Amino acid sequence: MSVWAVIVAAGRGERLGLDRPKAFANLCARPLLAESLQRLEASDWIDSIVVAAPPDWEEPVILLAEELGCGKVVEAVTGGTTRAASVRAALDKVSEDAAVILVHDAARPIVPEEVIERLLTALNEGWDGAVPVLPLPDTVKRIEGDRVVETVDREGLAMAQTPQAFVATALREAVASGGDEASDCSAQVEGLGGRVKAVAGDPRLLKVTVPADLELVASWL
Ligand code: CTP
Ligand code: MG
Repeated sequence: MSVWAVIVAAGRGERLGLDRPKAFANLCARPLLAESLQRLEASDWIDSIVVAAPPDWEEPVILLAEELGCGKVVEAVTGGTTRAASVRAALDKVSEDAAVILVHDAARPIVPEEVIERLLTALNEGWDGAVPVLPLPDTVKRIEGDRVVETVDREGLAMAQTPQAFVATALREAVASGGDEASDCSAQVEGLGGRVKAVAGDPRLLKVTVPADLELVASWL
């Protein structure tokens, strides 16, 4: 069974507010992307990797992969204007032989091997997809303008992380069907009626969004 990983790294990182895309933000003297790239390269579960790069950053991505000795990286494609479009562009370069495709945000540098194992175990159990989730730590409110209109029951709610793993055919079908506003691939697969299992996530999979997140993740390395 061939397992491919797609790393979506094509976002602009507007909330980080740097002079370069988030994937090239400085994390412990390396580009942020280096961390997830190296971890997926080292994973026993992953056979090949495709990266969706920001426009004009395809070459730096390939150079980075070479510098890190990431021989599993087969291509850096130009990402799209939405995350879903970036996934679609990368999927074009994923081999038809791939049975399983993992999609990961470059914005989450630390990828624990145990999470990948939990995801792939779920697919072996027959699920179409699997996502790592964490419980919500805070009380959740629904607001309209600045008025709190409801306190939402946290029971049954979870925060979804990446990597997310899918049976390749299920992911390809979901991504081809549109839904480009989806903020993760699972939403697209769920939208087509796919069965997605929630597995235990990991706090280290924190998504770097604002500058303070970079410092926090750096302190964990
Ligand atoms: N992403 C992508 N292509 C896009 C938008 C996002 O590949 N057009 C990727 C990002 O590179 C990131 C992941 O999707 O790894 C999650 O997106 P997010 O954290 O929102 O990153 P950015 O869009 O780069 O950040 P911001 O929203 O602050 O601009
Ligand atoms: Mg974004």
